[in-house]
Amino acid sequence: MVDRSVKLVDSQQGKEIELPVYEPTLGRPVIDIASLPKEAGYFTHDPGFGVTSSCESKITFIDGGEGKLLYRGYSIEDVSENLNYLDTAYLLYHGEVPTKEQSEAYTQKIKYYRLLNERVHHFFDGFYYDAHPMAMMTGLVGSLAAFYPDAIDINDEKMREITSLRLIAKMPMIAAAIYRHYKGYPVIYPEHNEGYTESFLRLMFERPGQDYEPDPLAAKALDLLFILHADHEQNASTSTVRLAGSTGTNPYAAISAGIASLWGPAHGGANEAVLNMLDEIGSVENIPKFIEKAKDKQDPFKLMGFGHRVYRNYDPRAKIIQSICYEILERYGDDPRMELAMKLEEAALKDDYFIERKLYPNVDFYSGIIYSALGIPVNMFTVMFAIARTSGWVAHWNEMVSDGYRIGRPRQLYTGNNIRKL
Ligand code: CMC
Repeated sequence: MVDRSVKLVDSQQGKEIELPVYEPTLGRPVIDIASLPKEAGYFTHDPGFGVTSSCESKITFIDGGEGKLLYRGYSIEDVSENLNYLDTAYLLYHGEVPTKEQSEAYTQKIKYYRLLNERVHHFFDGFYYDAHPMAMMTGLVGSLAAFYPDAIDINDEKMREITSLRLIAKMPMIAAAIYRHYKGYPVIYPEHNEGYTESFLRLMFERPGQDYEPDPLAAKALDLLFILHADHEQNASTSTVRLAGSTGTNPYAAISAGIASLWGPAHGGANEAVLNMLDEIGSVENIPKFIEKAKDKQDPFKLMGFGHRVYRNYDPRAKIIQSICYEILERYGDDPRMELAMKLEEAALKDDYFIERKLYPNVDFYSGIIYSALGIPVNMFTVMFAIARTSGWVAHWNEMVSDGYRIGRPRQLYTGNNIRKL
């Protein structure tokens, strides 16, 4: 595993410390600093984990400079063109694309595990009709730990697989139940023969006494968005799932922690924030004013859907989304926010502030426009992201548990009071 080493010279202590360096398959080599406290008495300091690798992983790779994203070695362009979401989930978890038989068996299992225990629906009685969908989703997914206490047997590979299937299967059911609670619609159950996203559309929009046929284009667009959002290596929510999971907690609780982390506007909440921002900007003439606000360090306003911790180039997912966005808008009617978004992107990409900092549109810049065209309310956008990211979360959690792990426990640079007396 150790491919070479680097020497750290501590001139104050007159010491040289040799640290092993590991070469990845792709990306930058990493220095193993685990021996630093013992050899030299130091911890390291990296707020926001900007340069720290927290684990070894074989699932997803991002080349931020080139704007490339790979799932298990396949480019996101290749995956999104040739696989559906469930096959992508299988690939992320198992490491290989499923054969036709494996794909069919996986789809059947997802159908088998998707029903929610009826008691879950009673929780809705405690929520206001307009409670934020992410608040409800965090609570409901965490509550599944109470229904599946057997999931705590995390060292059982079979049980881990069942947990992952249950989660991927139930997330659309939970999301649709949240929407129906908001609308006051009665709970409905899935049809047997529909695909994952078609079934989700029915669960959301079918009303008693009215025929509903899910639109294949809408189902295709959702499937694509789910693929693009499925995984993104050690992002904040995935790292949260790993950290919570590293205590050996019930996996439903760990995924619920991931959902909570995803909610923030700097992460999955950005898709909701983008549409709110476009509404606030209102029209093309106001773009220069908002670009100036985004550049002003005294102003907390940021261009939502722009910038990324890892990408210093166009987010490849944003490019893929743009093409389906046009198809959807053609079918569902133009949305003036699309033109506004394009003009905003154009203005930002010409501006020195954004050029120098390599700030480009990310996946969430256009995804909300599609969700909105499909009739999904803005406050449900992050819930959509959570449905998709569940496949990544369970793949990472499973990898961590099967590879062997230690409890995640960061250190700190303490700058509080020295010891004192009362
Ligand atoms: N608008 C204006 N300035 C920005 C923006 C933005 N959207 N993003 C970064 N900057 C500036 C930032 O102020 C800093 O400037 P300076 O060097 O003068 O201090 C510089 O660019 C570098 O940014 P950073 O804050 O060090 O970047 P980060 O890696 O800490 O944060 C980010 C990444 C995604 C949180 C941030 O770009 C952001 O808040 N963007 C808007 C929210 C957003 O779209 N988030 C979705 C990310 S993609 C979906 C996902 O994977 O969850």
